[in-house]
Amino acid sequence: MEDRNIAVSNEPFPSEVTQNHYISSARLVNPSVEGEKFARRRLLQAYMSNQPLFTKKAIRYAWEQVKRKPGHGGKAYSKDITGNTVEFKVDFTISNPPPECDCGDCDEDITRMIKWNKLSLLYATKGTLLKNFLKRSDGLLCPVTIIHDGYPVNAETSEALPLPPSYHFDGMSALFSAGIQNWKKARACKKLKTILSDTARSHEINKTIGFALGGFSQQETCLAHAARNVTQHALLLTLKEWLQKRDGGEKKPCYVQDPSYNSVDKQVLEKAGLQVIDDPCGWLEVDEQSIVISVAPNVPVKEIIADIARPAVIIWERVGVEHLVPFTDGRDRNDPCSLRVVDMMEDYDAHVFGAGQDLSECGSLVLYVRKSKTAVPPNLR
Ligand SMILES: C[S@@+](CC[C@H](N)C(=O)[O-])C[C@H]1O[C@@H](n2cnc3c(N)ncnc32)[C@H](O)[C@@H]1O
Repeated sequence: MEDRNIAVSNEPFPSEVTQNHYISSARLVNPSVEGEKFARRRLLQAYMSNQPLFTKKAIRYAWEQVKRKPGHGGKAYSKDITGNTVEFKVDFTISNPPPECDCGDCDEDITRMIKWNKLSLLYATKGTLLKNFLKRSDGLLCPVTIIHDGYPVNAETSEALPLPPSYHFDGMSALFSAGIQNWKKARACKKLKTILSDTARSHEINKTIGFALGGFSQQETCLAHAARNVTQHALLLTLKEWLQKRDGGEKKPCYVQDPSYNSVDKQVLEKAGLQVIDDPCGWLEVDEQSIVISVAPNVPVKEIIADIARPAVIIWERVGVEHLVPFTDGRDRNDPCSLRVVDMMEDYDAHVFGAGQDLSECGSLVLYVRKSKTAVPPNLR
């Protein structure tokens, strides 16, 4: 991964790669008589009674709305924690970036505005819902929120501004192959396979899914970070290959979900045998026969998975009671742990495989193997 002397593509990114997002106005279609005053209590009661906040049903419902592509002025719907319908107004007018935008370009360039052009999903944990509830006081308890995505335009001409350019496919493909070879030589790779063969040899497993492993072809991504993201995909490929070998050569799907992949990332990943899927299809695929990996996601992977499935094998950052508290400055963690996640991990044995040495800055990654060979989804318990 030492050389990035690679031809550069100046073509703008395809329109599916967008930046920024914002939540438009939303309301409950049938407001409860209790009103928003009791929302906080309702959320805590739901949580304490083990009611899942994220369900495949609600995710699928919201995804259907996104796929329907309602236009400007239209409506899109999601479900709140009690199954009530929440209505989001679709507003595609060009506007200033949201105040919380942290892309770094907005402050410097006042002529930049955002053309909102499509909908996607945002996931709100218990902590986020409580915080938003206090901030917005709208009482909405909607864990799967519909948001607007957009791309930057020149404020005067409304023309699309070029998005960050990407390196070309050939160079990135070579870089990706080199990253895989490096990872295969690493002690952590060997140790990982040994532990899997010792502990997961008879779990029923039918797929592997990687969440938030990050893109690597954007020129803005520094070399060290691109290398780190490539290595995480190499690790995923090791899981896929281990499974195929264990099962006598039988090929099983291996998916990756990360909205930040650009078209070059996607081509490189597909060539390597990984199927790139849209958010939220990864969540809908996760089940008790899955291997799941996620690294430093800025989506609450642990909270979502704890609600929807008990995968056979998981690799993610170590879970401990110390992760229950938010950051000291009051910000929520991107991938927080609640008691529910800590409880879930009781069903797993943790194995340290040496990620610290061989996966840069991923020292807290742990391999979790479910103690029982079979399990039922949490909502059926
Ligand atoms: C901090 S980066 C981590 C990237 C990489 N794993 C690393 O260790 O550097 C967070 C990643 O989460 C991804 N992400 C955000 N929302 C996601 C979603 N709904 N599903 C999967 N990945 C998501 C982002 O696109 C981004 O690549």
